[in-house]
Amino acid sequence: MSLRCALLYGGKSGEHEVSLQSAASVFRNMDRSRFDPMLVGIAKDGCWYLQPQEIHEAGLEPDTALKIVEDPTLRVECRPGVGLFCSQEQLQLDVVFPVLHGSLGEDGTVQGLLEVVELPYVGAGVLGSSVGMDKDLVKQLWRAHGIPTLDSLTASAVELSSVSKRQAFVTRCVETFGPMLFVKPARTGSSVGITKTHSAEEIEPAVQNALKYDTKVLIEPAQPVREIEISVIGNGAPYAYPPGEVVPNHEFYDYDAKYLDPEGAQLMVPAQLDSGVMEKARAIAVAAYSAAACEGMARVDLFVIQDTQELVVNEINTIPGFTRISMFPRMCAAAGLAYPELISQLIDLALERETIRASLRYER
Ligand SMILES: Nc1ncnc2c1ncn2[C@@H]1O[C@H](COP(=O)(O)OP(=O)(O)O)[C@@H](O)[C@H]1O
Ligand SMILES: [Mg+2]
Repeated sequence: MSLRCALLYGGKSGEHEVSLQSAASVFRNMDRSRFDPMLVGIAKDGCWYLQPQEIHEAGLEPDTALKIVEDPTLRVECRPGVGLFCSQEQLQLDVVFPVLHGSLGEDGTVQGLLEVVELPYVGAGVLGSSVGMDKDLVKQLWRAHGIPTLDSLTASAVELSSVSKRQAFVTRCVETFGPMLFVKPARTGSSVGITKTHSAEEIEPAVQNALKYDTKVLIEPAQPVREIEISVIGNGAPYAYPPGEVVPNHEFYDYDAKYLDPEGAQLMVPAQLDSGVMEKARAIAVAAYSAAACEGMARVDLFVIQDTQELVVNEINTIPGFTRISMFPRMCAAAGLAYPELISQLIDLALERETIRASLRYER
């Protein structure tokens, strides 16, 4: 009998539209001989809706994003300890695949909710998801494990709440790294809210901009870099696929280069690295994945610093882009793991984790 798998997509996130694209690819590539997919769309206001048959049918059309119908009679609700419900009926599910990017989806919150309703789910757990989402915390973990990553400074909205406080932070940043910086919200993705600065005057507006998206700002020195990405899969014994490389045609790999400009970047699989660097990058990716408490899957992004050829980890994405042309599935496919088989493996890893958890005791 096939396993019933809910695909969670959309979400209350700046990356809602990206999720509609990613989830469409996952939906179309799911092996129907093993899985019976059920679409659960999360509207931009955060409400969950079971999707009618026509959305399932439309979703099978090649090269289309999934849509979300917000029918109040098809609202999905959670009952702690029991499961997900729609119109007072329990959804019969074996596993959930959250294909959500960014806030309230990739950051541990949905994962926590799925723990509470006791449904197994694909990808990192609560801890790995929330750590991976926080560019500041994950760097602290990597540093503690001796994993190379760029130096950074952070400040909270409270610490940046007046002009004089922001000026003091800007001064500290310039004294530490000079004026060429990357200013980032600590917990967003898809380059949302990120600015590259070229002079001290640009930093304060960049900080203000980052604060629109998060209450914590992270700054790093802007380095001339090559950008390397690595798909990592597994629970206890993660495996890193051979790296790919992103060559942005913009000043950096910004939102437009990622999603709006078809010529925004060249995605090269595999990366043109010599085999020694390739192997070192894969080992660093596995270490970064384990240190960040990841399970299931993640895309680990590294920089090769052009001046020194040093490898540093930039960030980890616990629910990477999943469109047909996204790096994560492409890097797996290049090494022989075709897209449908990749999805099956990720679901199997979720079920494996569930089997282990089910054997744990919750009473003394
Ligand atoms: N310190 C840096 N030096 C050079 N380029 C950077 C640096 N930090 C970020 N970038 C550029 O900005 C892009 C987005 O930054 P990143 O930290 O990956 O955020 P996101 O999670 O939004 O993808 C990177 O892909 C890269 O092009
Ligand atoms: Mg990135």
